[in-house]
Amino acid sequence: MIRLRLLLTLVLSTHITGFSAEISVFVQTGASVQLDIQTQEKPEFEDLYWTKDKSENLVKYTNESKKVKIYNDRVDFNDSTFSLTLKNMRKTDSGPYRARTIGKSENDIVKYRVSVLDAVEAPVLTVNSKWSSHESCNFTCNGSNITISFIYNRSSCFPEEVTSSDLYTLRLICSNDSIVCNYSNPVSLKTDTVNVNEHCTVNEGTYCIRSEL
Ligand SMILES: *[C@@H]1O[C@H](CO)[C@@H](O)[C@H](O)[C@H]1NC(C)=O
Ligand SMILES: *[C@@H]1O[C@H](CO)[C@@H](O)[C@H](O)[C@H]1NC(C)=O
Ligand SMILES: *[C@@H]1O[C@H](CO)[C@@H](O)[C@H](O)[C@H]1NC(C)=O
Ligand SMILES: *[C@@H]1O[C@H](CO)[C@@H](O)[C@H](O)[C@H]1NC(C)=O
Ligand SMILES: *[C@@H]1O[C@H](CO)[C@@H](O)[C@H](O)[C@H]1NC(C)=O
Ligand SMILES: *[C@@H]1O[C@H](CO)[C@@H](O)[C@H](O)[C@H]1NC(C)=O
Ligand SMILES: *[C@@H]1O[C@H](CO)[C@@H](O)[C@H](O)[C@H]1NC(C)=O
Ligand SMILES: *[C@@H]1O[C@H](CO)[C@@H](O)[C@H](O)[C@H]1NC(C)=O
Repeated sequence: MIRLRLLLTLVLSTHITGFSAEISVFVQTGASVQLDIQTQEKPEFEDLYWTKDKSENLVKYTNESKKVKIYNDRVDFNDSTFSLTLKNMRKTDSGPYRARTIGKSENDIVKYRVSVLDAVEAPVLTVNSKWSSHESCNFTCNGSNITISFIYNRSSCFPEEVTSSDLYTLRLICSNDSIVCNYSNPVSLKTDTVNVNEHCTVNEGTYCIRSEL
């Protein structure tokens, strides 16, 4: 799962700056992520470092002695693949990471931009009953920092909404007598669903859906 996301973000958001690319990775708070060196052939070096924010050393691996020095207790290093695993991620762990080799020359072999995000809260779909009429119903879906009001009429949403702010997306799916509101960010997706027949009573015993068709 993490590897898949890594590959996807590699394809989608690799920024080429000069000769080095930065790979974006999103991680849910509390989860782990593995950062690979992304090269086919093993690099040649005397020392290999994984660092955060250019200067904070996380791991040092010495080729000759095969010695691994780990400077942070939430980090693992694989000395056959040279990959770094960051564990129990916190928001403050967001930032740039890189693997650097030192030997005949110094090289950044890979750079990552890691973003640690909370899972989204579940969205809440509600009916604005006083706005509802015989032919359509007015709903609101609240995805904590994106909220949209929309009209449900004859099994479609109006407007058909996909709304994004930054990394957060709210998506409406209306079909027949269901409305689904999906709220997501790169690490999570939560959903609320309502049955229009149950929720969209206009006047006593009158349902707004399809009764007019
Ligand atoms: C480690 O050092 C040896 C001897 O210098 C060299 O042959 C080998 O390629 C080095 N390994 C890596 C991964 O750089
Ligand atoms: C290092 O990675 C290799 C290849 O993915 C794996 O087989 C091995 O178990 C890993 N070693 C450790 C200590 O995790
Ligand atoms: C739907 O209800 C919301 C909240 O009551 C209101 O702000 C909005 O104008 C209504 N939309 C329509 C098209 O009636
Ligand atoms: C949406 O829900 C959040 C809590 O999850 C609340 O703070 C906010 O006021 C709500 N917004 C609207 C427009 O109802
Ligand atoms: C839904 O309502 C909107 C305006 O309220 C209207 O423009 C649209 O044609 C309606 N769609 C259907 C399928 O009735
Ligand atoms: C949306 O809310 C999340 C927390 O739930 C926050 O981290 C993020 O910055 C907010 N985004 C915007 C654009 O307000
Ligand atoms: C909506 O209803 C029509 C006719 O009742 C049915 O053919 C169709 O499969 C339904 N679509 C969904 C998404 O449930
Ligand atoms: C909405 O979320 C559900 C899972 O809760 C998923 O099956 C569905 O594909 C999502 N739809 C869209 C358009 O993202």
